[in-house]
Amino acid sequence: MSTSTDSGSAADGAVLTFAGVTVGYGGVPAVRDLSVEVRPGEILALLGPNGAGKTTTLLAAVGALPVMSGSITALGAPIDHHVERNAKRGVTLVPDNRGLFHRLSVTDNLRLAKRKGGGSLDVVYESFPKLQSLRGRRCGNLSGGEQQMLALAKALLTKPSVLLIDELSLGLSPIAVQDLLPRLRNLADEQQMAVILVEQHIDLALGIADSAIVLHHGRVALRGSARELRERRDTVEDAYFGRLSTSDSAR
Ligand SMILES: Nc1ncnc2c1ncn2[C@@H]1O[C@H](COP(=O)(O)OP(=O)(O)O)[C@@H](O)[C@H]1O
Ligand SMILES: [Mg+2]
Repeated sequence: MSTSTDSGSAADGAVLTFAGVTVGYGGVPAVRDLSVEVRPGEILALLGPNGAGKTTTLLAAVGALPVMSGSITALGAPIDHHVERNAKRGVTLVPDNRGLFHRLSVTDNLRLAKRKGGGSLDVVYESFPKLQSLRGRRCGNLSGGEQQMLALAKALLTKPSVLLIDELSLGLSPIAVQDLLPRLRNLADEQQMAVILVEQHIDLALGIADSAIVLHHGRVALRGSARELRERRDTVEDAYFGRLSTSDSAR
């Protein structure tokens, strides 16, 4: 992750770059002056309390929200206000509601995603073998953890170069989260896929991430390598709750 506030370009290997991005709703900023980038195989944990601007950041990244100022680029080309086109370029969002078809079977959910994205079912089943045995099951009858596996599997079928995951662990048991996160780490490593992970379990997220930012009220309160932030756990807590002065966080 770059800590610079300059433009950041594909020339330096970033898959997705935010350069001074301000984005919000109805002309009111929810995220201000955000500069961050992710590289192939990098997992960036995007942390912060409710309302900090995490979902807004991800929506801007896929082009679902137009930026008010600054720019977002994916693989060197600008992200515009066109979700389908950005998805075709490999910018894929797993939304916090997971975006599944609950009346359809696991297989049919996967088939639809494959038709759109053309990725490999082998890779999906290798990463999530349990889905094989659930193939005929109606999605609505899966556990939360199984549904999140399916949501990740569908996203993989779009062959993402950057995968944006909103609230991975929402409604999941701690065991399900502990099962999913290492799989995500493997996928990032093996597929050289960049990941932005919005996750409430700070320690679990920092445990598998390479880098992290903590947002508070739409601004970066703290950023650093995941290792560094693991060692500064109290500072992360302070940033999370808005107790850091600007000088603390500007490193
Ligand atoms: N559709 C919307 N219209 C207006 N304001 C919104 C909308 N969605 C989110 N916001 C506001 O934007 C801010 C950031 O929200 P959000 O990105 O959803 O935070 P997070 O995902 O970190 O909980 C909050 O103040 C929230 O109230
Ligand atoms: Mg959110």
